[in-house]
Amino acid sequence: MALETDFIVIGSGIAGLRASIELAQAGAKVSVLTKSKTSDSNTEWAQGGVAVVLSDDDNAELHEDDTLIAGAGLCDEEAVTTLVVEGTRYIKQLIDWGTEFDREGGNLVFTQEAAHSRRRILHAHGDSTGKEIVRALVARARQEDSINLLPFAHVEKLLVMDQRCVGVRFLDPILKAPRDIFARGVVLCTGGAGQLYQHSTNPPVATGDGMAMSYFAGAELADMEFVQFHPTALNIENAPRFLLSEAMRGEGAVLRNALGKRFMGDYDDRLELAPRDIVSRSIVSELRKTGTRTVFLDITQKSEEFLRHRFPKIYETCKYFDLDISKDLLPVSPASHYTMGGVRTDLWGRTTITGLYAAGEVTCTGVHGANRLASNSLLEGLVFGARAGKAALQDSQNWAVDSGRWTADTDRSETNPQSDRIATSVRKRVKRVMWERVGIVRDEGSLKRALSEFKQISKSSLSNASRNFVTLAKLVTEAALWREESRGGHFRSDKPEQIENWAIHSIQKRGAKIGSAETLDFKPEKVIDRAV
Ligand code: SIN
Repeated sequence: MALETDFIVIGSGIAGLRASIELAQAGAKVSVLTKSKTSDSNTEWAQGGVAVVLSDDDNAELHEDDTLIAGAGLCDEEAVTTLVVEGTRYIKQLIDWGTEFDREGGNLVFTQEAAHSRRRILHAHGDSTGKEIVRALVARARQEDSINLLPFAHVEKLLVMDQRCVGVRFLDPILKAPRDIFARGVVLCTGGAGQLYQHSTNPPVATGDGMAMSYFAGAELADMEFVQFHPTALNIENAPRFLLSEAMRGEGAVLRNALGKRFMGDYDDRLELAPRDIVSRSIVSELRKTGTRTVFLDITQKSEEFLRHRFPKIYETCKYFDLDISKDLLPVSPASHYTMGGVRTDLWGRTTITGLYAAGEVTCTGVHGANRLASNSLLEGLVFGARAGKAALQDSQNWAVDSGRWTADTDRSETNPQSDRIATSVRKRVKRVMWERVGIVRDEGSLKRALSEFKQISKSSLSNASRNFVTLAKLVTEAALWREESRGGHFRSDKPEQIENWAIHSIQKRGAKIGSAETLDFKPEKVIDRAV
């Protein structure tokens, strides 16, 4: 018998948990499907913190301006105002729900990150902000009897009937077979696609499945060419790139090249706190100049006591690699970190498919434009997760759960299981091509070569997961080739200038040529914003 619920939420990061709570508070039954453990998400890994206007010397306009400047002309101003203004309310609510941000003498403490004009970043347990937020949200979600958390339930496909998303197909972890579940609405909160690249700060689950599934279901994707590379990932041979938070530079860490020279002054007056894309490209240039594979982060001017308290996780992780952050220079290089593009939504998380909502990194809401301001992503997941929940509730009042009419079952045959070994080698090859040809610096030639490699890979017989992965890589590459300028996280060495006429969004849809839109808000309907 088909499974039925009121709403399906895919993903258990900040956006998914917040959307689920919103839905459950209204009495709806919610199934939260997540492909690994509930705590396996980019949110859980977030170190630096969450940007929010709460300190006495800050205001919404300043936070909005910083976000718009970082976004390099592609932010949607209404989306940014929504993020900043509602963000403060939702963070206060998160504190009411038991989130323990770091305090001194009872007062919240704020740190500095690049391109923020104020110290406005809240953090928890020093550098484990995401983990603390997930803890508090999971505890809050567990108070709602109607939320059913389903870990290890990998969603493979969105089920669309009569142009409405009516459910999903997932791999049942107990039956070890595909199974369908139907609902009045589906909220996609599957996170980003950092794992498309050979070097990434993201957890292994960040493979962009939600973006690929939406594309195959007929939804529009926007701004896929904009990928953010974090400048300072710990660079240890054969180890995954562990993030060394930007907050370290906010607290005074400097960058040195292999000769020990502090080099950021040669590139930008804002030094180590210049926007991430500038710092990442400066590092690439420095590596080329010195013919080395790494630069170094130096925070040795701070005391061991301060560092152990302020960055306990980073301190311990570096120690594991025999590095004492109070004494040693830390080898770092850039790694993919955040996907600015994603499933196109309006300001209420509606996608271009009826019944399909989305929130968090999987989306392109217009909040981040061409480059995300540091620590705006947790805030986005919180605000737009709640909003997507509200919109799904309101829109679906007259929609039934319609499993009985679902007959398009033939596509089970699409599943073409590959051996794990082949799937891993496809993934490895795609990641290498993305890193080498569609990375921090791209050009027409490298992008065309990447596309032809992806075409080759696509000719082999692929599992759904591998097909999703290669398709997403192709979409990023096509969008990067289409945008004949440089802006924010997208840098073309053959088109290095930002060009006014290109202040438009790329739009990709299955079966159509890549197109553009001046604004992302395709359906500016409003739902009543019940105050938090
Ligand atoms: C960091 O801690 O450097 C990451 C923060 C972010 O990406 O927003």
